[in-house]
Amino acid sequence: MKKIRVNAGRPYDVVIGKGEINNLPSAINKLGKSGKIAVVTDRNVGGLYGEKITALLGGKDVCYVEIESGEEHKSMNTVADILEKLAENKLTRSDLIVALGGGIVGDVAGFAAACYLRGVDFVQVPTTLLAMVDSSVGGKTGVNLSAGKNLAGAFHQPRLVVCDEDFLATLPQEEFKNGMGEVIKYGCIADKNLLEKLSSPGGGLEEIIARCVEIKADFVAKDEFDNGERQKLNFGHTLGHAIEKASGFAVPHGQAVGIGMRVICRWAEERGLTPKGCADAIEALTDKFGMLKGENYRAEDLWNIAANDKKLKGKNISLVLLKELGSSYLYKTTIDALENS
Ligand code: GLY
Repeated sequence: MKKIRVNAGRPYDVVIGKGEINNLPSAINKLGKSGKIAVVTDRNVGGLYGEKITALLGGKDVCYVEIESGEEHKSMNTVADILEKLAENKLTRSDLIVALGGGIVGDVAGFAAACYLRGVDFVQVPTTLLAMVDSSVGGKTGVNLSAGKNLAGAFHQPRLVVCDEDFLATLPQEEFKNGMGEVIKYGCIADKNLLEKLSSPGGGLEEIIARCVEIKADFVAKDEFDNGERQKLNFGHTLGHAIEKASGFAVPHGQAVGIGMRVICRWAEERGLTPKGCADAIEALTDKFGMLKGENYRAEDLWNIAANDKKLKGKNISLVLLKELGSSYLYKTTIDALENS
């Protein structure tokens, strides 16, 4: 088992290890939570693990809330439904929400936790690789609006994150590839050794997850509210979000990030902003994990879509570029300059 401390405003642990879910009831007790628990999950994960988790928490007063699966349900309507259920079940401010699922469940349940009674505690139990290494850590919660992804949300840190690799046994291969997009991202921006580990055969998943979480925890500790340093976690994301949108969301998030990293790196190399060789290395790794190549996507065609990214400040944009493999920087420019580059 590995335990990583996230030094946010209110620090918390991320525990990583096979079978760690079985320690959830005692971990909740250690948080001083002895009241009601609302387990929020979706239909897919609920079908696989809903009963098991409810039984595991059996000694406690559990309210079980299942939302529909899929990005289209990452919405204010879903949050409203969850809030109504919490109120019907009379959860109080001292009670606890457990978000059991992938990134969408974590973001939606976390946002409901941030809103309900102006904020109740929650625990993240991620069941996908992507959620384990990225979205469950760092306190970003929220939903999509018609105008775009993640446009409504709140920073609300969990009290605990439990990453149990056993959940990955039922993870579809395509979902695993999504997680790998974020894993490769961490290596690119902060740890060349992680990239080397990923390039070599084998490699323990627990260690890889733990290293990603360590890197994320470091960025969150430096910049919890995403004003500077934390933005480096968006390597591959500006174009990745544009690719998701251009594909009508047929390309899922992690794979879009994989293509986004390839495209931005190639673009930066051609302009002398990143040393040559980085894009080749990223391509070799994303290919190794069978991720989409996205050969038809070019940065020049995507700036226009990227111009609607919520992270833009007016026409200014901060691109995350690589200084070298394992080290990144923010390159401040404007959409006009990019469209003319
Ligand atoms: N997923 C990027 C962040 O948490 O900042």
